[in-house]
Amino acid sequence: MTQNVLVVDFGAQYAQLIARRVREAHVYSEIVPSTISADEVRAKAPAALILSGGPKSVYEVPAPSLDPAIYELGIPVLGICYGAQLMALQLGGEVANTGIGEYGRTDMTRIGTSVLMDEWPASVTCWMSHGDAIATAPEGFVVTGSSPEGPVAVMEDVGRRLHAVQFHPEVAHTERGQDLLANFLHHVAEIPPTWTNTSIIEDQVAAIRTQVGTEKVLCALSGGVDSAVAAALVTKAVGRQLTCVFVDTGLMRKDEGEQIEETFTRQFGVELIHVKAQDRFFEALAGVTDPEAKRKIIGGLFIQEFETVARELGKGGDGPRFLVQGTLYPDVIESGSGHAANIKSHHNVGGLPEDLSFDLVEPLRNLFKDEVRHVGEELGLPAEIVWRQPFPGPGLGVRIVGEVTRERAEILRNADYVVVDEIKKAGLYRELWQSFAVLPAVRTVGVMGDGRTYAYPIIIRAVTSDDAMTADWARLPYDVIEKIANRLIREVDGVNRVALDVTSKPPGTIEWE
Ligand code: XMP
Repeated sequence: MTQNVLVVDFGAQYAQLIARRVREAHVYSEIVPSTISADEVRAKAPAALILSGGPKSVYEVPAPSLDPAIYELGIPVLGICYGAQLMALQLGGEVANTGIGEYGRTDMTRIGTSVLMDEWPASVTCWMSHGDAIATAPEGFVVTGSSPEGPVAVMEDVGRRLHAVQFHPEVAHTERGQDLLANFLHHVAEIPPTWTNTSIIEDQVAAIRTQVGTEKVLCALSGGVDSAVAAALVTKAVGRQLTCVFVDTGLMRKDEGEQIEETFTRQFGVELIHVKAQDRFFEALAGVTDPEAKRKIIGGLFIQEFETVARELGKGGDGPRFLVQGTLYPDVIESGSGHAANIKSHHNVGGLPEDLSFDLVEPLRNLFKDEVRHVGEELGLPAEIVWRQPFPGPGLGVRIVGEVTRERAEILRNADYVVVDEIKKAGLYRELWQSFAVLPAVRTVGVMGDGRTYAYPIIIRAVTSDDAMTADWARLPYDVIEKIANRLIREVDGVNRVALDVTSKPPGTIEWE
């Protein structure tokens, strides 16, 4: 059985990163709210607990706390930043509100030996972000590290297996941060590194078989990574019980449909229903220019098309009972906390038609995106699919400002191909969160050869981001921009000018609509 580490979330985005780093050390981790009780922790029987950082001061009212009985359970605990201060305060130490914090790169000096920092140099650079500081460690604790403004930067009670660090071992700027986490997991908590891509696949294949039995399963492929990996896992588990549906909306990227056919039909031998619905989408979108109206039309029609296939398969009462969804762990955590204002209505391809009652199969529910990609590689999916940048459900539709027509979709698809091709050639594709072309609703005058042109500009949109919640415009090298611009004008009919979007998010969104 997989041993589990619980990451207690004290706010902001810290817990997700810690949970990912724990998994990089090949240990399964789950995020739980700070309101969890000692009884609930005991019921989950974790092999260790990690208390995350958080945006508050322990002296703020209200500030998140922890059921103190948790420290008495005999489970190893690592407190990080806010979690470290809370542990110090709750166990009888002192946290000082000095008014002088430490932010960013800070030197931390080791004191004596510590299992967390075995064989570390005397001083290492750590990433700090704190206003308060632990002034006195609780009784029973030994101080094993200090920083200029943090006399207790690291403390431990080896007997009770309680450890705390003021800095953030989960961020890349902390030298040896991953080593510290691995030492805590493998040496303090003695958890073996058994959570690997192979074990994820084995566990999920077994779980899918148990859930599905001999029933039929349906999966909507979108061209994206998540649905492809979910489908590949289900194929491995129940083979020909799976039918995949790919609805071509006419708003997909270049060659996306062919690539899906090639991979799933020929390589995996899956039954694939390729719905060529382009005409119906363009017809429904004719004359519509409002972004929200376009999204609703595309989302609604997608569901209709999918429903038609599902009903057809269900004729005679022998249809699929299960539907595969590529839900990821961050979606699960986020839907639990219920934040995020609805800025754009997001339609997720594969969304459940309301009056069709399927049971859901969600084999990626416990995984982060990077794990999904690695599982995909291990399952033999092509790199083009596994490493593809995110693509919105409504596809090119939200990158065509104004009316979406077949001709304009074709211009954008060809332009998008050029942008992505040059970004790949420059070796930047995996570094960027997204890089694509946008087609605005204006035309401008140009001159080509001896003639005057009146054609569309293309806007290059390239961003860096960790999670799409915020993003920065990518500083593409000038020579890459130049190559893209030359090719766009030379190769894409209907384009005579190129511009670059230099808006970060906020205030912009990543997509234009
Ligand atoms: P924005 O444009 O809001 O996008 O900054 C954030 C991220 O979400 C993607 N996106 C979508 N994904 N359905 C999706 O599945 C949608 O309707 C949708 N709209 C935007 C966008 O590509 C970016 O990664």
